[in-house]
Amino acid sequence: MDVLQRYESLVEDWSAFRAACRRPLPSVVRVNTLKTTVERAKEALQAEGIAYEEVKWHDGILQLPDANPGSNWPYVQGWLHGQEEVSALPPVVLDPDPGDRVWDATAAPGSKTTQLAALMDDEGQIVATDNNLGRLSALRSNAERLGVTNLAVTNEDARNHSLKPFDGEHYDHALVDAPCSCEGTIRKNPDTLEEWSLDHVTGIAGAQKGILRRAIEVTRPGGTVVYSTCTFAPEENEAVLDFALEETAARLVSVDLPLESRPGVTEWDGETFDTSVEKAHRVYPHLNDTGGFFVAKLEVPA
Ligand SMILES: C[S@@+](CC[C@H](N)C(=O)[O-])C[C@H]1O[C@@H](n2cnc3c(N)ncnc32)[C@H](O)[C@@H]1O
Repeated sequence: MDVLQRYESLVEDWSAFRAACRRPLPSVVRVNTLKTTVERAKEALQAEGIAYEEVKWHDGILQLPDANPGSNWPYVQGWLHGQEEVSALPPVVLDPDPGDRVWDATAAPGSKTTQLAALMDDEGQIVATDNNLGRLSALRSNAERLGVTNLAVTNEDARNHSLKPFDGEHYDHALVDAPCSCEGTIRKNPDTLEEWSLDHVTGIAGAQKGILRRAIEVTRPGGTVVYSTCTFAPEENEAVLDFALEETAARLVSVDLPLESRPGVTEWDGETFDTSVEKAHRVYPHLNDTGGFFVAKLEVPA
């Protein structure tokens, strides 16, 4: 089954989209500024004889055309973390300050948790939740290697996230980097669509709605929530936002994305969505030569 064909009506340069989806992605690392500077990390890569290329929008993200991200000394020391370029967008959009309290609702294995910690200078608190214990072990090990200490970890279903251990205190921000059908990762995992089914998309959309609703509930008035997926299916993207707009008082806000993107879609498969979903961003692989992604920011009214 040609899953991506269902999105032909959404993507204006269809042949460029299809060609990009067939090209493999280079390895990418993010420099961990809790342990080093971008300049020192580049010098360490040079000393190891590892070639790197800069990306235009983020000076701490480096492509490694000839190397695996995890097979070098700067990685082991916690100076680098392997993270797909487009996956660095949600923390940048969330834009937390040092001292904030942030809930990372679906956090493992912690690429974005540790990026958030770096943006917060390891100050304040991040509560990182995941319902998968094995993946939480990977998060703990990444956090330790990268020197993150402003972290509490909870193993629970994010839809029922409890504020009790945190004295009922609401968060300044929440990130829902949702479990999804992963269509946008096809360049990294060419087999990813082999298990695709509409039933899975519909089922996971139900979980996404519950997690986003809980994220909005536990964020303080005036706080913000970022919702992201690595998939193209509007059922898992705009339809989830439409649900949140209907069920909660949160509203979408406009964001200037540092990468080229297309607006969220307001119609799909006979359904129409609140027109403000156009404030969301669809990042297609051919636009910036990256993986595919979806990201949106909501504000909880003060
Ligand atoms: C896209 S991955 C998160 C990637 C992570 N944010 C990162 O950057 O490393 C989605 C995660 O959601 C978790 N998950 C799925 N359903 C969940 C639920 N109901 N509650 C909490 N976590 C859930 C999965 O175990 C998975 O680790």
